[in-house]
Amino acid sequence: MSKEKLVIFDTTLRDGEQSPGASMTQEEKIRVARQLEKMRVDVIEAGFAAASPGDFKAIHAIAGILKESTVCSLARASETDIEHAGEAIRPAARKRIHTFIATSPIHMEKKLGMTPDEVVERAVKAIGWARRYTDDVEFSAEDAGRSELDFLCRIFEAVIRAGATTLNVPDTVGYTLPTPFAHTMGQLLNRVPNADRGVWSVHCHNDLGLAVANSLSAVLAGARQVECTINGLGERAGNAALEEIVMAVKTRADIFPVETCIDATQIVPASKLVAQITGYPVQPNKAIVGANAFAHEAGIHQDGVLKHRETYEIMRAEDVGWTKNKLVLGKHSGRTAFRNRLTELGIELTGEDQLNAVFTRFKELADKKHEIFDEDLQALVSDEATLPEQEYFRLNYSRVTSETGEIPQARIALSVGGREQQAEAEGSGPVDATFKAVEQVAHSGVELLLYSVNAITTGTDAQGEVTVRLAKNGRVVNGQGADTDIVIASAKAYINALNKLHASQGKLNPQGEV
Ligand code: KIV
Ligand code: ZN
Repeated sequence: MSKEKLVIFDTTLRDGEQSPGASMTQEEKIRVARQLEKMRVDVIEAGFAAASPGDFKAIHAIAGILKESTVCSLARASETDIEHAGEAIRPAARKRIHTFIATSPIHMEKKLGMTPDEVVERAVKAIGWARRYTDDVEFSAEDAGRSELDFLCRIFEAVIRAGATTLNVPDTVGYTLPTPFAHTMGQLLNRVPNADRGVWSVHCHNDLGLAVANSLSAVLAGARQVECTINGLGERAGNAALEEIVMAVKTRADIFPVETCIDATQIVPASKLVAQITGYPVQPNKAIVGANAFAHEAGIHQDGVLKHRETYEIMRAEDVGWTKNKLVLGKHSGRTAFRNRLTELGIELTGEDQLNAVFTRFKELADKKHEIFDEDLQALVSDEATLPEQEYFRLNYSRVTSETGEIPQARIALSVGGREQQAEAEGSGPVDATFKAVEQVAHSGVELLLYSVNAITTGTDAQGEVTVRLAKNGRVVNGQGADTDIVIASAKAYINALNKLHASQGKLNPQGEV
């Protein structure tokens, strides 16, 4: 049976980045975009160009780098948003503008303050503005999951006539269920007279844990693009997880009349990269990319798998990119081997100075830890990628004492805007004491929302990777730090988050405003 193509549209860099604290630097976004292209994602939504100058620059940079994947920017249905998007994607070999407007009664009345007629008129104009920049224009009816079917038919017919080539049906608030959503998709395909002139798409949120189920059921009803994110990252409970969509379609090829172009062996590296960069760890029992996804604990399962793998395994771990941690470099590796490995990982350092700094850190790490894995290199580069101007706070020194029966104490020296200050504090443990000492100097007034530690690789000599999520005045940031000493990793993560709070300006949420 010949299969139709299912377009994979990844929005990790846009909707994924709307998760609290998941904002990424330009360098981090480029690393993720390269990995997505390596995985052969068809369309990469690289951001919302009008959100901030930083977002615009990151999309523009990605557009100049990628060769195969289509680079897309989101834009509200406004002329200035679309101009930003069009300029941001200009360098791309393949480019798309994704414009949207809300279509549910509640959003039109309460959020937009527009009548349905005005919404249709604006949507049609938006397609015209977008077509000045590219023929590849996607239209989304925001909150389609709660919109009236007749109105959806009307607006989609109008935007297709105006030149929209992809028609996206988002379940913005994660409200729909598989059967009614498939029905909506089927009705749109049947009732919109020019439906055959575009590719129909779905974009599902996971508020009821149904984002993947809803997306797949729309695919069975005729959708030919799915919008998804790595690890299911995204607003609130997240978006449909790319890895689950891709592997469901592949594993149940007997059911789905479609196939994707994704190189599934790149899924686990992409998952690890996104988790490491955003500070959103993957739960161990997460499908496909969780640490336990292929671990057979129960004795009866192990016995079955040993006798015949397929008794309990429907996919092979290696097919989605699980490998034993690969030893890549060691103490005696030279600069050329080091640089080559970074290139293979899609990491491009800006100039010799940065390469020297990262290489020095690599040698220091190789002294403490004999085997250096890809995951170590990713963490090391993230640590070192902070530019001096983004480092208002820097840890110069730390000493921690922790002894049975004694109160842990920390002494630190922190550079604040170039001036060194020292502090000492006690705490319930060495990490608590260190954070208190940092606060004595920083006086940040932040609230600690999350503290988590993960071993990057296996063994007691592994680097600990710490994520710290801080909030201040409604802003939330994640900081990361990695070190073989987890107290130092914790201090780095805390200081990294403080620097992000210090550096970042507010940025616009595309769905938050009119
Ligand atoms: O969830 C949503 O509706 C969106 C749109 C902007 C497509 O993210
Ligand atoms: Zn969304």
